[in-house]
Amino acid sequence: MDISKFVAPEIIFGRGSLSQIGECVVRLGVSKVFLVSDRDVIASGWVDQAVEYLHAAGLETTIFSSLTTNPKDFEVREATAQYLASGCDGIVSVGGGSPTDVAKAVAILASNGGRIGDYEGINKILSPLPPMVIVPSTAGAGSEVSQFTIIVDTDRKLKMSIISRSLIPDIAIVDPEILRTKDARLAAATGVDALTHGIESYVSLAATPLTDVHALKAIQLISLYLKRAVADRGDMEANSNMAMASLMAGLAFSNAILGAAHAMTHQVDGLLDKHHGETNASILPHVMQFNLHACPERFRDIAAALGEEVAGLDVVAAATLSIGAVRRLISDIGLAKGLSQLGLREEFIPILSENATKDACLVTNPRSATREEIAEIFRAAM
Ligand SMILES: [Fe+2]
Repeated sequence: MDISKFVAPEIIFGRGSLSQIGECVVRLGVSKVFLVSDRDVIASGWVDQAVEYLHAAGLETTIFSSLTTNPKDFEVREATAQYLASGCDGIVSVGGGSPTDVAKAVAILASNGGRIGDYEGINKILSPLPPMVIVPSTAGAGSEVSQFTIIVDTDRKLKMSIISRSLIPDIAIVDPEILRTKDARLAAATGVDALTHGIESYVSLAATPLTDVHALKAIQLISLYLKRAVADRGDMEANSNMAMASLMAGLAFSNAILGAAHAMTHQVDGLLDKHHGETNASILPHVMQFNLHACPERFRDIAAALGEEVAGLDVVAAATLSIGAVRRLISDIGLAKGLSQLGLREEFIPILSENATKDACLVTNPRSATREEIAEIFRAAM
């Protein structure tokens, strides 16, 4: 039998939609909210606004913000202890991928116990999670709609992929106004992350018509609006379209899973603690090159979504245009760096390659990849 599924949360989208947060949380039966965020988002005033809306709805709040980019296992432990001590019965995140992934990881441990590493892989979570409402502050991670959380194992120095349908938040509130206060460098990096989600999910072995439509539209929106969003952080048409692109790429990759680029970036991010979008920018074109002949028709569609003229070209020539288009976009937004410029040294490649072969994201890559082949891609991306 050929059975597929598509899971998604309730999604509230639009400028000013943060104002809906109190009503959303009340509707889920929560009385005391554990709100996860980070220092930047708090400094920008968004958490104060969210807390005001939550208090106006009669809810109590506790705030947790002791976390870093690429959230770590010990941060999750600390957050879970605070959640359990606080008497909270629901979780809200206002922030980028890091607060969102910590919020999800707290939800796992608060209701299932153990250590976060116990849940690495696919469908290891058995008990239901507390209610979750996620408000993203960046256009990239897509975690507000995904069944993923990605946490760094600080002993092994790699990112663990935890994938389970119970990680889908109850409600995602996507308010593009929040993007305005994030700087251009972050907008560029997160935008490339969303692009990588769109491309990897479109060529994934688990892609379905339901994920395809979201993946291709996301790629097209990123092609049209990422440069504008990076050039002018006040361009709300660009911010809104990037928020939608990130959301749609999130729906696509949540259900189709990802591929070799993420299997590889998870290793580099865990080791170097660089922004995940920057590592994606270094690796994505090389993984596209590796995968191209496994599904050239799919890469032709991606080229067309990126605005390339593919009519009249043979399929491989058309498909190849997708790589050039991605390289130009990455270069135009200032992220065209090799992995060596990000600090990766050649001596780490064997262990990173070995660990990448064990990452859950590699399973759906359209072309199977050995440790040696992954090492070659790493070397090309240096
Ligand atoms: Fe990603």
